[in-house]
Amino acid sequence: MSTEASREPRPTATDGTGPGAVRHLISTNDLTDAELRALVERGAEFSNGSVRSGEQLTGLVAGIHFLKTSTRTRTSFSAAALRLGAKIVSFGPDDLQTNTGETLEDTAEVLSRMLDILVVRSAGDPADLRAFAAQPRMSVVNAMTADEHPTQAIADLTTILCRFGRIEDLRICYVGEGNNTAAALALTLSRFKGVHLELRTPPGYGLGPATLERAAANAAASGASVVELHSMDTRPQGFDVIYTTRWQTTGTSKPDPDWRRIFAPFQVTTALWDGSPDAVFLHDLPAHRGEDVTAEVLDGPHSLAFDQAENKMYAAMAVLEWCAGRR
Ligand code: CP
Repeated sequence: MSTEASREPRPTATDGTGPGAVRHLISTNDLTDAELRALVERGAEFSNGSVRSGEQLTGLVAGIHFLKTSTRTRTSFSAAALRLGAKIVSFGPDDLQTNTGETLEDTAEVLSRMLDILVVRSAGDPADLRAFAAQPRMSVVNAMTADEHPTQAIADLTTILCRFGRIEDLRICYVGEGNNTAAALALTLSRFKGVHLELRTPPGYGLGPATLERAAANAAASGASVVELHSMDTRPQGFDVIYTTRWQTTGTSKPDPDWRRIFAPFQVTTALWDGSPDAVFLHDLPAHRGEDVTAEVLDGPHSLAFDQAENKMYAAMAVLEWCAGRR
């Protein structure tokens, strides 16, 4: 019996190209504009049926490691891997020896000898994902950290592309907390020419300064615009998309006992359609009817929220294919 380990390091993709290269998706900032667009277009191809899932990932094994609750993201990556012919190994929050003190680096080194891709929803710190990525064999995908939810944005842009046939020149109004979903939207939409993204975030719950700065730089380069307001006193006008998220972002709590009063004016109701009668409604889910959005909107004729949830699986297919160097 040989004692030689057989899983050789794969070349690291510095330019995002090359079959067999290790590609990580930890932040959308790591993607070139062309890579981001290709992922969204591929997600749309899976979504609209112009490409069928099949054997694209045959022979690969994906780890699905979630330290926080998830319905959509965990299932979408698991189902995407299985539908593309990969096998999966799942780890919950109590399963790995990291809980007993093994370092993330040692854990990643070991997992990389056995897995091709690791999809991680971390306890919050994006540095944990970079630690998992510090090995030369296994791709790492961010399934949500405290600062960004990159694969949610790819699913959201896939949904927008499927609905409108383009992303450029659309007007998107985001209403709600400046959380990791909002950050990923700002960092991605700002890269498409002519997009206008208006964020209406409650005072004290806006996007972080680094995200705003990066989105502004993206917008300056692409010809998009990004503005953030902390009031609903004026009604948003003329939008193609109205988007919200739940008020209690997964894995977070709000120390201010009065936060619901601050968030109340930011509930998405049918009144928002007075200023944007043709807008579609997006929600990353889970939703709380009567809190972040009324049932009339979430279950109404403008809502694409459940198509958007399904598109998480098609976006996951695109991400897994790209990470595996099979595209
Ligand atoms: N939208 C989203 O990330 O949902 P889950 O938390 O259920 O994965």
